[in-house]
Amino acid sequence: PIFKDEDMRSPIICILGHVDTGKTKLLDKIRATNVQTGEAGGITQQIGASFFPRDCIEKNIARLPEDLRVGCKPPGLLIIDTPGHESFTNLRSRGASLCDLAILVIDITAKDLEQQAAESIDILRKSNVPFVIALNKIDLIGNREWRVLGPDASSKLSLESQAPHVQHHFHKNWQWLQGKITEKKGLNMEYYWKLLEAKQAPVEKSKQKKSKGKKGKAETPDQAIDDITSADSYIHVVPTSAISGEGIPDILMMLMRLSQEQMRGRLEYEDEIAATVLEVKRIEGLGVTIDVVLTNGTLHEGDTIVVAGMNGPIVSTIRGLLTPQPLKELRVKSDYVHHKAVKAAMGVKVLAEGMDHAVAGASLYVARNPAEVETYKREAMEEVDGAMQAKESEGVYVMASTLGSLEALMAFLADEKVPVMGTNLGTVHKIDVTKASIMRERGHPEYAMILAFDVEVAADAMLEAERLGVKIFTAPIIYHLTEHFKAHVAEQHE
Ligand code: GTP
Ligand code: NA
Ligand code: MG
Repeated sequence: PIFKDEDMRSPIICILGHVDTGKTKLLDKIRATNVQTGEAGGITQQIGASFFPRDCIEKNIARLPEDLRVGCKPPGLLIIDTPGHESFTNLRSRGASLCDLAILVIDITAKDLEQQAAESIDILRKSNVPFVIALNKIDLIGNREWRVLGPDASSKLSLESQAPHVQHHFHKNWQWLQGKITEKKGLNMEYYWKLLEAKQAPVEKSKQKKSKGKKGKAETPDQAIDDITSADSYIHVVPTSAISGEGIPDILMMLMRLSQEQMRGRLEYEDEIAATVLEVKRIEGLGVTIDVVLTNGTLHEGDTIVVAGMNGPIVSTIRGLLTPQPLKELRVKSDYVHHKAVKAAMGVKVLAEGMDHAVAGASLYVARNPAEVETYKREAMEEVDGAMQAKESEGVYVMASTLGSLEALMAFLADEKVPVMGTNLGTVHKIDVTKASIMRERGHPEYAMILAFDVEVAADAMLEAERLGVKIFTAPIIYHLTEHFKAHVAEQHE
C-alpha cells in the first residue's frame, strides 16, 4: 500500500471466547489492573476498551527471542473486551463488527470446542475478521507440573523448557482440541512459530536453489510448508497464561505482525468519522457523558454531533474530549487527559449537553451543515427502531441499560419463551410501571412485571409499582431475570 507508516491507525482488536476462558484476565495481565474481581458474578456485562500504546507493546516484544521480534508501526492496539456468557451474543457481535482483528481465547484444558467459542468463530467469519487463537491456561497443563519460565516470558521458550512429559501433555491436549475444532468448524490451525518459520522458508529455499541449481524431487519435503504460506488460511495459535503472563509478549507480537503485514491496507487512517457509543454514564462533576469507540476520523471540540436517543435523535456540540490515562480501562474512574481533538483509533469520553437519553450501541455522527444534521437524525433513529420493536400483546415489560444488552436480553427471553409486551432503555420510571400495569387490566396479572437489567429504579416508580401491583425485578446478570420470571409466574398460578 501507498500510505506512509505515520498514516497508520491503531487496529481495533476484540477479544472473544467461551465464558471463563480468561479474556478479561489476559487483558488485566497486560494492564496490571484488576477489573475482573470487581465484576458482578465474575461476568463481564459491558464492553470495555483499553488502549495499549506502542511503547508498551515494544517493551513486551523485547522479551522475545530475537528471531521472533518485530517493529511496531501503528501507534498502539485498541482492545475491546467482550463477555463470554451465552446471553451476550449481541455484545459479541457488536464487538466483532467494530474490530479489525480478534483474539479467540480457548482454554487448553477444555475437552471440546465450547459453545460460545464455536459461536465466536461463526461471528468472526461472518464479519470477515481475521483472528489469532490464545490457547490459555497453559499453567494448568500436566497436573500443574508446568514450570513457569519467568513472568511474562515467551511461551515458545517456556514450552520448550518444560519436562518432556509436560510438553507431551500440552501437545496431546491441543491435538485433541484441534481435532474437534477442525471437525466442527473446518479451521486450519498451527503454532505461530511454525507458521512464522514456514514464511521464512521460501526465502531460504530460493537461496538454496540458486546455489544448487534445479532439482526436481528435492523440493517435495518443503511442499507442505509452501502450502501453509500460500494458503494463508492457517490460524496462528499462541499458548498463553493469564496467571504467569507467559505468552503475552508472543500474542502482542502476533497482533502487531498481522496488523502491519496482512491488514495494513485496511488500517490507513481516514478522515470520515466512524464511531460507536459504547456506554452512557453520569460522572460526578461532568454530568452525563458518552464513551465512544472512534474507529476512523478525528473528533474536535465544537463539532456538531448526532446520536440516537431514547426519545428521538439528539443533536449536540462536543464540549470536551477525554481519554483515560494510558493503560487504564475506559470504564474505570480515573483521571482523564483532556484533548482539543482525538484521532482514531481511540476510545474517548465525549462531553456534550443532552446525552442523558443517548442510546448505547448506536453510531455517533458528525454533521458539517444543517442538511447533514437532518440526514444523520434519520439514519440514527432507523438503527435503533429495529431493536426497540416488540412484541406480543401479552407479556412482560423489559428494560436494559444499552441497546446491546436490550438486544441480548430479548434474544435470551425469546429462547426461554418469555413473552415480551414492551421495552425501554434506561432508568425505570413511573411511566414504565403504568405501561406494565396494563397486563392486570387485560387479565394477565402474572405478566404485570418489569424485568430490568443493569438499570436503576426511580423512587416514584417503586411507589407506583406498589400501588398498581406491578413487580419490578432487577438483576445484574441476565439469566437471573428469567429465574425471577418463572418463580413469579408459578406463584401466581398457585
Ligand atoms: P467472561 O468474561 O465471564 O466470559 O470470562 P473471561 O473469559 O473474561 O474469564 P476471566 O478473565 O474472568 O477468568 C475466569 C477465571 O479463570 C478466573 O478465575 C481467572 O483467574 C481464571 N483464569 C484466567 N486465565 C487463567 C490462566 O491462564 N490460568 C489459570 N490457571 N487460570 C486462569
Ligand atoms: Na468470567
Ligand atoms: Mg471477562
